[in-house]
Order: sequence, then C-alpha cells, then structure tokens
Amino acid sequence: MRVVSGMRPTGKLHLGHYFGVIRNWVKLQEEHECYFFIADWHALTTAYKNTKELRKNIREVMIDWLALGLDPNKSVLFIQSLVKEHAELCLLFGMLTPKSWLELNPTYKDLKYNLLRLSDLEKNFKEKLESNIEEFIKLVPFEISNPEKFREHLLENLTQTMIEALFEGEIEPEILKKLNVSKRDFYETDTFGFLGYPVLQTADILVYKGEAVPVGEDQLPHIELSREIARRFNRLYGKVFPEPKALLTETPKIPGTDGRKMSKSYGNAVFFADTKEEVEKKVMKMFTDPQKIRKNDPGRPEICPVFSWHKLFTQDRELVERIERDCRTGKLGCVECKRILLKHLEEFLEPIRERRKELEKRIEEIEEVFYENSKKARGEAQKTMEEVRKAMNLP
Ligand code: TRP
Repeated sequence: MRVVSGMRPTGKLHLGHYFGVIRNWVKLQEEHECYFFIADWHALTTAYKNTKELRKNIREVMIDWLALGLDPNKSVLFIQSLVKEHAELCLLFGMLTPKSWLELNPTYKDLKYNLLRLSDLEKNFKEKLESNIEEFIKLVPFEISNPEKFREHLLENLTQTMIEALFEGEIEPEILKKLNVSKRDFYETDTFGFLGYPVLQTADILVYKGEAVPVGEDQLPHIELSREIARRFNRLYGKVFPEPKALLTETPKIPGTDGRKMSKSYGNAVFFADTKEEVEKKVMKMFTDPQKIRKNDPGRPEICPVFSWHKLFTQDRELVERIERDCRTGKLGCVECKRILLKHLEEFLEPIRERRKELEKRIEEIEEVFYENSKKARGEAQKTMEEVRKAMNLP
C-alpha cells in the first residue's frame, strides 16, 4: 500500500505532533511504501508575509523527524517545493475543481466567518469615522481637487490602519479576544492560495498515486475532497488515480500543560528541543484539578492533564493506578504527582533530546539526505505526470 502524508513546517515539533502524527508514521514505514514530506508550500498559504523563518523551520522539522525515528532508508522523506510536479498537478486539478467544493471546506468557512465578524467591526469604525471625516479633511493644508475620491481613500486607509493596529496589539488586544479572532492569519488569508489549499493537498497525494493518507481527524474534509477530485479526473480523462483513503489510527489525545489542545500558539506545548530545565518548569506549572487546592484535597484525575500525561509516560500500570487512587483520596498532592511524572517524561524525552543534539551538528548532511530523497520522489512524480498529460492530451 502506498502511504503519503505531509506536515507544514511551523517550527519545532512538540509532544502533540508525536502522539498525533509521527508515532503513527514511524510504525507505517515498517510495513508500507511511505512518502512523507515537509509541506513548505502549504505553510505559505497562511504565512506568506513573513518567510524569514521558513528555512530554519524546515531544518527543525528535519531534525525532529529523524530524532523521533523516521528513517530515510525506509520512507521517502522529502521537501514538497523541491518536487515541482506537485505544482503542475495542482494547477491541472484547479481546472476541474468547482469553486463551490472549496468554499464548503470547513477551514475556509471558518475563515469567512471570522472575516465577517471582523467586517462588522470595520463597518462600525467606518461609520464613526465617516461622521467626523470632514474635520480630518479640514486639516489638509492643500486644495483638494477630487474631494469625493479623497474622502473615500482616507476612510479606507484609516480603517485598514485600525485593523492592522488591532492585530499588532497596538490598541485594545481585548477586542480580538472578544471576537475570538486571535490570529492575524484570519485577516490575511482570504487568498487564492488559501482557498486552493485542498487542491494542492490533493496533488501532493495523487502525484504519487497515494492510497492511504495518515492524518488527524481535522483533515478528513480535505481527504474527502481529494477523493472527489480523483473521481472527477478519472471520469473526464480515464482512470489514472486511486481514490485515497484517510488512515485514522487511534491516537491518544495529549492535552497541553493547561488542559487545552497542545499548540505552539497557546504556549502550552513541550518541545523536543526544550532543555530539561525548561521541561521541568513547564510541568511544575501544569494545570491540575482546580478543586484540588490544598495537598490533601481529593482530586479528579479524569479532568487533570497531569494524569493524562501519566497514562502516556508512566509505563508502570500499577503505579498509574496508585496515582489515580491516591489523588482521589487526597493522599497524593499535585507537586509530588508532578515530580513522579517528570521522572518518566524525562526517560522518554532525554534520548530524543540527545539524538537531536547529535543531528543538529550534522545538519548539512541531513539536508543532503532530504534533497536526495526529493529527487527520488520527483522521479516517481514525473512518471505520474506523463500519464496525466497523456490522458489530458497535453503535449
Ligand atoms: N494539511 C495537512 C495538515 O495541515 C498537511 C498536508 C499537506 C498533508 N499536504 C498533505 C497531509 C498531503 C496529508 C497529505 O496537517
């Protein structure tokens, strides 16, 4: 079975990446023909404005992948943007993908929804501005030859400035929180590239005729779209592609240190690149059952992120059961409980951290490996593209 999956290079990997994705990939590479790539073009669908960190982020992902057990001799580990055929196939798929399919994509709908709320804010501000704009105009020390146009222009620009300032935190950061529009991404991603995100993703998979796509649940609508695009292509030009299936494996959810989903942007993640001291600090600050205030208060392990982590890192099942019991009865305090966790967490993290350090020293060699693997992937992609061009009667 041919397996294809990708990951956007957003920086250093954390425990959430491992339990959600990488652990699964490491298993798959033992039994299947796997293509795993760093989706740097996909990163640009939201972060196109600032690409300063892109190269660095790609290197971080390379190091983390290898440190976590992905093996370039077992899987093809490569970089999306080095295989130009992804772009060619994306362009061709774009021709036959109805716009409405993309507009129905939940990620896109979320974006639109946020933009809508933002546009309320904009409208509000514009109205206020409008009623005072004449005062502004009086300040201009020149004769205005086209007052109507100038007025419009001023309104538009001041409104934009306000929105930007809002996103930069220059004025009332609270407003954004209230609107629940926390990322400036939302404001900047109403682009062709973002709308076409799932088309590129489809090309990523089908350029290798991928049959199985190990992804998180959030990606299901994208894979469904890939199936529809494959079906449509095959119907129009003859069968070239398989219909890829999502491979949803049981993945334990690892909450962040504050109990929410682990995410870099929430500041609740433990990274593989964190030092021992950083990990210790994060663990000792972890949220626990808010009703367990004093050491001997009874706690509720089922809502405690520290206990969720015990289940993943504390191998001794009996000890886990004892922790659960002693927490409930109030015999075990949170500080003590965290100390136990830390010991087991470190047993897991330490060897990875060491491997990471070694790999960091050999970064040039590692880049070379990814470049070589990209050539290999490209060879495969080129074969598919020949078939595609033939099916579509392209020269
Ligand atoms: N969209 C995926 C994510 O954000 C990343 C991705 C890009 C991907 N291309 C892909 C996943 C192709 C699977 C197959 O997680």
